[in-house]
Amino acid sequence: MSESWQRQSILAHTDKSSPLRAVHSTGLTGRMCVPGDKSISHRALMLSALCIGKSTITGLLESEDVIATAKAMAALGAYVERTQDGAWHVQGVGVGGLSEPDVEIDFGNAGTGVRLCAGLVAATPINVRFTGDASLQGRPMGRIITPLEQMGAVFEAQTPGRLPLTLKGARDPVPITYELPMPSAQVKSAVLLAALNTPGTTSVIETIATRDHSERMLKAFGADIDIEMQGTTRRISITGQHELTAANVDVPGDPSSAAFALVAALICENSEITVENVMLNPTRTGLIDTLQDMGGDITISNRRLSGGEEVGDVRATSSALHGVTVPAERAPSMIDEYPVLAVAAACATGTTHMAGLQELRVKESDRLAAVANGLEVNGVAVRAGDDWLEVDGGAVPGGGLVATHLDHRIAMAFSVLGLVASAPVEIDDAAIISTSFPDFIDRMRQLGANLEDAPGRS
Ligand code: S3P
Repeated sequence: MSESWQRQSILAHTDKSSPLRAVHSTGLTGRMCVPGDKSISHRALMLSALCIGKSTITGLLESEDVIATAKAMAALGAYVERTQDGAWHVQGVGVGGLSEPDVEIDFGNAGTGVRLCAGLVAATPINVRFTGDASLQGRPMGRIITPLEQMGAVFEAQTPGRLPLTLKGARDPVPITYELPMPSAQVKSAVLLAALNTPGTTSVIETIATRDHSERMLKAFGADIDIEMQGTTRRISITGQHELTAANVDVPGDPSSAAFALVAALICENSEITVENVMLNPTRTGLIDTLQDMGGDITISNRRLSGGEEVGDVRATSSALHGVTVPAERAPSMIDEYPVLAVAAACATGTTHMAGLQELRVKESDRLAAVANGLEVNGVAVRAGDDWLEVDGGAVPGGGLVATHLDHRIAMAFSVLGLVASAPVEIDDAAIISTSFPDFIDRMRQLGANLEDAPGRS
């Protein structure tokens, strides 16, 4: 890691919890930008670390999750530097060139970081020990261990399938054909990254489309990648052990971060906001479609291509929302947006039914349970099953204390609920928001949201 990188103090990291109170607000107005997309930021750092030559990344999300990946790439031998104006330079080590780190790699809260990084090193004969925070240690790693072991990697863990674990990369990796057992871009990407240093052709088959940032970026970095459609099934193949070429990546704004301000503007009276430069990749826009189905006044302007991704400016205006049934097939394109959709549903007339939510059980928290509890303690009628959620909308009483369970999206979603509730909503810990959106509270305040620091309640 370069010295100049280490000198930058870009993380206001704190281990202390920081309670927040969200108070009734009207008239949210203004334009805002959201930070760079988290999925693209992780991938840009990882692929640059494998290139020959220097890549430049602008608009990188500088949040705890992504900084953990930057540190991991430095620990694995890449040169990672942040310049004064916020651009990141990464000097890669070449495919197969990662070196064994002399420290454990701590990914904090970042599931994408650790799962993709495991793929990145799985076909290189080095030992890497991975760990994470309490939330990440509770999340399943078996989903990446299974295919990466088929490729020749070995995993050792005290609790099978959980962090902390040691990965022994394969000396003689073998290509596989792997059909995803669940719709997961992280699992798909882990296998594709392992394929880069595996001789022959490795294929991943997905029957349900998940976000395709890895495929797009692998192409941009010159990987030998082929995508074949068989009906609605996609077969993504990589022929490995080809060098990657350095590239410049301009990271567009994260639609999953934009979601909170957009929903806030729809449900607060007299509001109109525009979020600029939002990525509109169709594998990520399920929330916008759903909010429009609910009667939300959302318009998109200035559509353009940026860094191989479609982007645009998204305007949301106060709207009378009505409940809808959200089909299970839409879940992968809005998988991180259900907490804030549930908040929109709580303010709509009628009932909203959301299906196909089994993956919400294994996110940063059990999001199905966390959302249901957060709504319930604030007086919203909610029913949850193993993989579904149903919310009855209407006036939101509020007054509840929401447990975030180290989950940034639960913290942000319920801070939006408080803006429409009759009584303030308290969030037990807003510090976790810095894993994905460090400026969230300031930017929401600039739009007119009443978000107050709250003394802890026991
Ligand atoms: C991500 C994929 C999704 C998503 C996560 C980011 C990615 O997870 O929830 O926030 O960048 O690949 P799954 O792969 O578990 O669906």
